[in-house]
Amino acid sequence: MRLAYLFACSLCFAITIVAQPPHLEKHGTTTQLIVDGKPFLILGAEIHNSSSSSLDYMKPIWPRLAQIPLNTVLTPLSWELIEPAEGKYDFTLVDGLIQQARQERLHIVFLWLASWKNGMSSYAPLWVKSDTRRFPRVIEGSGEKVEILSTLGAPTMNADAKAFAALMRHIRDIGSNDHTVLMMQVENEVGVLGDTRDRSPAANKAFEATVPAQLTGYLREHRESLFPELRELWNENGSKTSGTWQEIFGTSTRADEIFMAWNYGRYVNHIAAAGKAEYPLPMYVNTWLAREDATPGEYPSGGPQPRVIDIWKAAGSAIDIYSPDIYQPNFEEWSKWYSRAGNPLFIPEAAGGATGAANVFYAIGQHEAIGFSPFGIDSWRDTQNELGKSYEALMQLEPIIAAHQGRGEVTGFLLDKAHSSVSTVMNGYLVTISLDEIFGSEAMKGFGLIIATGPHEFIGAGKGFRVKFEPRSPGPPHAGIGYVEEGKFSDGKWVPRRRLNGDENDQGHYWRFSPQQINIEKTVVYRFE
Ligand code: DGJ
Repeated sequence: MRLAYLFACSLCFAITIVAQPPHLEKHGTTTQLIVDGKPFLILGAEIHNSSSSSLDYMKPIWPRLAQIPLNTVLTPLSWELIEPAEGKYDFTLVDGLIQQARQERLHIVFLWLASWKNGMSSYAPLWVKSDTRRFPRVIEGSGEKVEILSTLGAPTMNADAKAFAALMRHIRDIGSNDHTVLMMQVENEVGVLGDTRDRSPAANKAFEATVPAQLTGYLREHRESLFPELRELWNENGSKTSGTWQEIFGTSTRADEIFMAWNYGRYVNHIAAAGKAEYPLPMYVNTWLAREDATPGEYPSGGPQPRVIDIWKAAGSAIDIYSPDIYQPNFEEWSKWYSRAGNPLFIPEAAGGATGAANVFYAIGQHEAIGFSPFGIDSWRDTQNELGKSYEALMQLEPIIAAHQGRGEVTGFLLDKAHSSVSTVMNGYLVTISLDEIFGSEAMKGFGLIIATGPHEFIGAGKGFRVKFEPRSPGPPHAGIGYVEEGKFSDGKWVPRRRLNGDENDQGHYWRFSPQQINIEKTVVYRFE
């Protein structure tokens, strides 16, 4: 009887563990995505906006993506196709896409294209678009209504939230056993385009009113961790904790952007919370990044740019991740800005090809990104399959990276002629990583990551760099390279191939990674008098 009870209970426990949905967990300084009890790195790509509106169109695409190899496909799903008539849901597409992904053992991150897509409202259902009384639009400076749903329309927010909740309930019911669906993107690149803010009557009234205490209280409580530009703006205007938007944030367009960030933040958090109440997958919002000299409205005003992420966080806590779509060349800066103050880095859109193949090492190695996903993968003609080669190496390294994240034991880097060297202290050694100029090409680039796996042991992956070790802990004053091995990881275990102690490591001077292809190598370093 007792045994039977124990057996039944351990079975309950096992079922509870297996059924836990994908979720985020904090370990040291890092946040990991946990899928089926294990850390999971999203090595993915996003398909074009309209590809996943047809199962027939998608059918031949999935196997191609699986071969790259990817482990996750960022897959758009639009409100108009899920709820073509109010209250009448059609989940045929959702079921079919999940089914197709499962067949190729791929995961999905769904993109909920609903009230907004790239600022505009093109993917809202026709019954929403056509009823501008019930679902009010943004009015811009010219006095014109534009095809952007206003954040001040409560019926729009509730209708979107209702549809999203129905979707999440459906995914829970059909998908919770094998966790094909990992995360949800809520809306796409939101913000007002064409003006600095919404000038509809409801928006004007809210703009003249007092800033909600929820926001000023947040600023006060988080003063030290606020994004520096926001803190400066608040300070410059007297660090007030009550007043109108312009009294607290000044009269420049920055106040307009902050006002819009609050309203988008409130709206999108409401939708995410409604979805999570049904099935609590991690949820993120992506950002059309502002160029340095652009004014709000030239890019979507109110989207979570680094300087207004705090405003979004003050508006709600249902969004787990604020994400950058990085098409701009300063990848390192954007990655840094989106991995501060506890925000896990997830890059849902980026350049692919050789650029993406290098950047993914940097994002994961240096900023502990939970995932990387270049855009438009279904139309790529990357004949060298550069991204796939990076992903293959990172798939092998995934458990090793996960075990060493959050403890200062992983570093990532991008090198070129202008930035040809970086140094960091790991494992009691100053580790200097430089472009491997021995191969001497002008156009040379190097990239990779290094993991400190044991007291004197390092694993590296990437191409086009060399590494020097100098002691930075008590003991003998010199460091030498004991040996270098190339190899691979099979189920998390190191399988060595060649020993590389000749020309390949410059006769013991450097740990080197050829610029020809991505290699995974292990080195053991030693100290001597
Ligand atoms: C960014 C958007 O988020 C995507 O949906 C797509 O429109 C790309 N831009 C196109 O470059």
